[in-house]
Amino acid sequence: MAKQILKAGTSLTPIPASIISCGTVEGKKNLISLAWVGIVNSDPPMLSISVRPQRHSHQMIKDSGEFVVNVPTRELLEAVDYCGNTSGRDVDKFAGAGLTALPASKVAAPIVAECPINLECRVRQVIPLGSHDLFLAEIVAVQANDEVLENGRLSAAKVHTIAYCSGEYVNVQGGLGRNGSHFRKK
Ligand SMILES: Cc1cc2nc3c(=O)[nH]c(=O)nc-3n(C[C@H](O)[C@H](O)[C@H](O)COP(=O)(O)O)c2cc1C
Repeated sequence: MAKQILKAGTSLTPIPASIISCGTVEGKKNLISLAWVGIVNSDPPMLSISVRPQRHSHQMIKDSGEFVVNVPTRELLEAVDYCGNTSGRDVDKFAGAGLTALPASKVAAPIVAECPINLECRVRQVIPLGSHDLFLAEIVAVQANDEVLENGRLSAAKVHTIAYCSGEYVNVQGGLGRNGSHFRKK
């Protein structure tokens, strides 16, 4: 198997494209598409987002200490592209993307109604890394649509997530079975 040595970079795939909402339902609110979102702890449940300080959303998240990670399906690709190529400094992205802001259960930031999974987050730490600041946050509540649940738990195969890598959107297809079901114990 021939390998090539590439320039060191962010070549991890697939990573899901998410729409992050911030601000408040009734007041100023904004949406930003982010790919650099990752689960980092299970108890307490925590995730991180990496945001360039130049983004309008960066200041809003820093000021409020809260945001929601909304998981879009492939039907929302246009909204993902729009929220990642326009700034809340210039446009109302909820209106422009045709997305609906609904109250979250535990944070002031709105959830995006059209996204089937919404993770409500509270910032615990902000870590400057260089180009991006990493917001380390606790997931304080999760909302999920019935259609992505199976026996009360999230069925990832039903979500039809959009993956993103090196500027390219990719379909994430179908289920591959459960963890522990693919090898024979010796
Ligand atoms: C699919 C996708 C993923 C993105 N991921 C990130 C990211 O992880 N971090 C980041 O700072 N910007 C990311 N961006 C860029 C921002 O979404 C973009 O600069 C946006 O216009 C900023 O909006 P704002 O100024 O309203 O905050 C991404 C854009 C797209 C389209």
